[in-house]
Formats: sequence, structure tokens, C-alpha cells
Amino acid sequence: MKSDGRFYVTTPIFYVNDRPHIGTAYTMIATDVLARFHRAAGYDTRYLTGLDEHGQKIASAAEAQGMEPRPFVDRMAKPFEDAWRILGTSHDDLIRTTEERHASGVQKLWKLVADRGDVYLGEYDGLYCVGCEAYLMEKDLAPGGQCPQGHGQVRKVRMPSYFFRLSKYAEPLLRLYEERPDFVRPASRMNEVSSFVREGLHDLSISRTSFTWGIPVPGDDAHVMYVWFDALSNYITALGWPEDPQGLFARYWPAAHHVIGKDILRFHAIYWPAMLMAAGLPVPRCVFAHGWLTINGRKMSKSLRNTVDPLALKWEFGNDAVRHYLMRDTVFGLDGDFNHDQLIERINSDLANDLGNLVNRASNLVHKLSDGRIPERREGGEREAAIRARAAESADEAASRFHAFEIARAIEAVWTLCADTNRFVQDSQPWTMKGEADRERRDACLYTMVEAIRQLAHMLAPVMPEKSREILAQIGLEPPPPSVEPPWPSRWGEIEPGLSIPAPRPVFPRIDRKAVPSIRERLGVDSALSEASPEPAREADGLISIEEFGTTDLRIGLVLEAEPVPKTSKLLRLGVDLGEEAPRTIVAGIAEVYKGPDLVGKRIVVVANLRPAKLRGIESRGMLLAASVGGKPRILTVDGDAAPGTRVT
Ligand code: MSP
Repeated sequence: MKSDGRFYVTTPIFYVNDRPHIGTAYTMIATDVLARFHRAAGYDTRYLTGLDEHGQKIASAAEAQGMEPRPFVDRMAKPFEDAWRILGTSHDDLIRTTEERHASGVQKLWKLVADRGDVYLGEYDGLYCVGCEAYLMEKDLAPGGQCPQGHGQVRKVRMPSYFFRLSKYAEPLLRLYEERPDFVRPASRMNEVSSFVREGLHDLSISRTSFTWGIPVPGDDAHVMYVWFDALSNYITALGWPEDPQGLFARYWPAAHHVIGKDILRFHAIYWPAMLMAAGLPVPRCVFAHGWLTINGRKMSKSLRNTVDPLALKWEFGNDAVRHYLMRDTVFGLDGDFNHDQLIERINSDLANDLGNLVNRASNLVHKLSDGRIPERREGGEREAAIRARAAESADEAASRFHAFEIARAIEAVWTLCADTNRFVQDSQPWTMKGEADRERRDACLYTMVEAIRQLAHMLAPVMPEKSREILAQIGLEPPPPSVEPPWPSRWGEIEPGLSIPAPRPVFPRIDRKAVPSIRERLGVDSALSEASPEPAREADGLISIEEFGTTDLRIGLVLEAEPVPKTSKLLRLGVDLGEEAPRTIVAGIAEVYKGPDLVGKRIVVVANLRPAKLRGIESRGMLLAASVGGKPRILTVDGDAAPGTRVT
């Protein structure tokens, strides 16, 4: 990724209907690593994150809590702000889309695009998924008319709407992709985007009249902006566009690198550059889509109780160990898995064994063989020369990997220096170099070892900022304050002879195997893995989200026939039209109150996605809803006419 010395890096802005979890923390951490590396390498760097607070999804979440949207988003923003502070991410700004600086900027962007002729009023008639806040086509749907991202049933909507002339930008976008093949990374994602655009683009509906929780459309208060038009603009409004009072826009745009999850690639690689082109603004430098994390091999979901809280991990293992594991064990750009055992394994092998032992051993040797002081700077022989060369190669290789956003490969390159230094100490055996005769060799060996550790501390800092500073302190140096990155690369030989180093103290304690069961228990790993806990998780307040409610598929059913189940007093067998190819059989325990003919022709409410069950040998495919009045069932019907199959929401 080319650069002119400026590096503006952004995360997606997170929807505040959820709490921070390991997936969102993953995006934050990876972006943080890239920001820290670029700062260390001397780039004029800016790191932006934010919160996405408007739209139908947030409005519904607020309503489900019985709250107005404004206090709801204020309440929900707090856990994000706290989490990122506790996780120590180094963002320079966190923008909330409900801030005035954002709203006024977005309205100006809208006006600009409209004045240039790319906005018109029309009618949207199609499908919408509130979970994704996205318009979908029939062909995009999963079987059963469901959202392909697992958000349940999509809605049919018909409404007046302003449209953005996206179709006009298909050709310019294809040209952009051709001229700048690294506009979308990794390369496989670029193929996905360009083939989508090649199929042709429809104009994009960018306003809604069905709710009010959004930024008003300039000049037409009946409409609020589509949440993605609002959200994408954060990348420039946070820089102060268009007034740019602090000169941030002039300084950092278009040096933008948008780090996002693969699920929101189209918005960033198609809509966003087209919006910027329409406004006559330059497009960002690149959009990098990372993969998704599963948890111990399973999709992360609240109902599986396996969402992982990054703060619990921090208290258990420390931020840096988690960062190292996440960045080392997933290929940035591909899907990955978060596995608790693997995390512990990484801590023990990479951190406690390879790196921790090296640092510890170095402190011990300097104390034993050099009075606790850094020895004279001596060149030594071939072995020392090889370590100096390795340090330079690792720094070069890691830097070019970081530039390519290949974080795991960058760490690998740094680890080569760690492994070689361990081997160097083992082969040199400095503990045998005793007395005055061996002084020069001993000094050369110890100096090389300590200097290699200093180099490692610098190279590890983007991924492990806290531990890097601890390592520097362990070899007698004063680490830079948290706001300043240890520079990259660092010249060989900067550690001063004569410096005294503190008593050895392990930087990375090993996790004892015996402690693992209690760690798993504290983190709730085993209960999350147990199949015997199908109970959906509930938030502490006992409330469910709109998405959780949406997983129950309620439909209007027209009763076509109803007969008693032989040899029972309570059961009726119903034939119910749910708008499907054939009527469904539903067995219901209502015969004490209802006789067959009472029900035929009635419109009832059916749970349509219930797993089939056999009752008295008859397969029942669904359940009707009834209130229990004095212990007797009273069935729910619908007010007025409703076609069989109509969704109840
Ligand atoms: N609000 C939009 C983004 C607007 S950007 C102008 C949004 N928000 S989100 O909160 O739903 O998701 C934010 C990011 O978190 C996305 O990039 C998404 O891919 C990422 N992740 C959410 N769960 C994840 C995993 N399980 N694994 C990795 N990343 C995941 O989309």
C-alpha cells in the first residue's frame, strides 16, 4: 500500500445495539496494531473509530428497552468507550453519529451530491433487512426468504424515497478497480467486488419515511437519511470536513485505509467511493476486509452463550497476550477461530518459553557474569555478526509485512530473531566464559544478546505495547511513555555499556496446566461448549433484543379443517394454510374448549419455525398461539383480513 508519509486508518463504526465482543475487539486491535506500527515507522498517523447510532435497528432496540433513542444510545455508547480504554487501543478520535459535528457534515455532503444532480425522489419497492440495515434482492436471500447473514426474515417495504444515482458510477468504479488493484484488499475480495459491479448497479435508496431516528434530509423533514449514507460519511466528518477547522481533512484525506469486516465490504468498496465521486472528493487509499472469528469452532451467537468478552480475557491473561494470540493465529483477511486452549498454548510456547525465557536468561546472565551492568560494546565473531544481520532482516521483513497488512507474517518475521537469539545463547554458552581471559568474548556475547532483546522489544511494540515497555525496563532502559511508540527500526548498538539492569523478574509467567480448568470455569468456556445448555442467554435485565424476537417466525394461518384426535379428550388435528404449497398439520391441545367446526375458516397465529414433534403418532408442524384463561386455552386471531402466511411482527 503506497503512502506519502501519511497514514489515516479507520475501523467501522460499531452499532450500539450490541456490546463490545471479541469480534469487534478484533477489528479494533488489528487496526491499533497497524496504527502503532505506522507511528513507530515515522508516518503521520491518525486512527479513527466510532459508533453508529442512528437507523431502524437502533430505534427498534431502544423501543424494545422502552427507551427513547437518545438516552438509549448515550447509555449504550459507554460500554464501548470503556472497553476500548481498558483494552488500551490508541485511537485519536471516537466519533458518534449523533454528534453535531457529524450531522452537519453529512447534511452538507447530501446537499453537495444533490446539487450535482445525483439525488432524486422516487419510490422504493423491495426487500429490506433491518439486522443488516441493507436492501436485498430476491436472489440474495437464504432459503425460506431469510437474511443471508442470519438476521431472520427480511421485510417487504414500499415507500417514497430519495435515491442516489449509484448506477451512474458502475463504469467509474470499474475503472478505479482496474487502475488501483489494491484499492480493495485482500485481492480475492477485489474480485468479489468487481464482479458484483460488473453485473450492473441499481440506484440506491438513501432515505426513509417510516421512522424518524436519523439525520433529517436537507429540505425535506419527512425523510431521514438511510443509515449507511449517514454512517459512511463519518470517515470525513470526523476530520472536520467540509470546514476543516483543524486542517485534519487536508492533512489526512485521502490517505485513508478503511479496515472492515468482510460482511460490510460492498458498502465500503462500492457505495462509499461512488458517494465521494459524486461529491467530487477523492476516494480513500484502500479498503481492507478481514475475516470473521468463530468461537471454539462455532459461530459466535448470544443464544449459544459463546460470545467472548474481551475484558474478561484482559483480566485473565493481560491485553498483550490476547493481542499476540489474535494477531498471530489468524491470517488477517481470512476467517479465523478464537480457541481458548490455543490461546493458552500460544502464551506458554511463544511468550513464556521463547520470549520470556530469553529475557529472563539475559537478565540472569548479566547479573551473574557482568555485575548486573551492560558490558562493553564488542563486535565478537561470526555468531554475533549473524545475529546483527538477522535483526536487520527481521526488521525489514516485518516492516514490509506490516505495510501489506500481513500482521501474522510480520510477527513471524520478528519471531525468527527471537528464535535465532535463543539459539545463539545456547550455542555460545556464555556461562562457560569465565575470568579475564574470556572477557572480550563474554562481553560480545552478552552485549549482542541484550541488544537483540532491545531490538525485539521495539519490533514487538505494535502488537504488545505494554510488554514491549516491560522488556525495555527489564534491560535497564527507560521505556517511552504510552503515547510515544518505540521507533522502528532502531539502530543496532544503542544500548549503553555500563547501564545497570534490575533484578530478573519474569515478564511472561507460564500458565500451569493445573490452572486451566479453573480458568475455563471463570471464563465460562465449558458451559458455552456444552450441548446440554440450549437455553437462550438472557441479558441480566431479562429482556431480549428485537433480533432475538425476530428468530421466532410467527405467521397467520387459515384453518381449513379441524378434527378430534381419536382416543384423546384434548387434542385436535388441524389442517392450516400458511400460504405454502400444501397445508400444514398442527396438533393442538384445545379440544376441551373448541369443537372442529368452531375453528374452520378462522385466522390463527402460528409459530411456523418450530421443530416438528410427534403427538399420538401424528407429526405436528407448528404451534398455534393461545392465551390461558382460567386454565383454558383461548386462541389468538387477527383483527381484519390477513392473507395466510402473513408475518406477525
Ligand atoms: N455499523 C456498521 C458499520 C458502519 S461503518 C461506516 C456495522 N457495525 S457492527 O457493529 O455490526 O460491526 C462492526 C464490525 O465488527 C464489522 O466490521 C464486523 O465485521 C465486525 N465483527 C462483528 N462480529 C465479528 C466476528 N465474529 N468476527 C470478526 N469481526 C466481526 O456493521
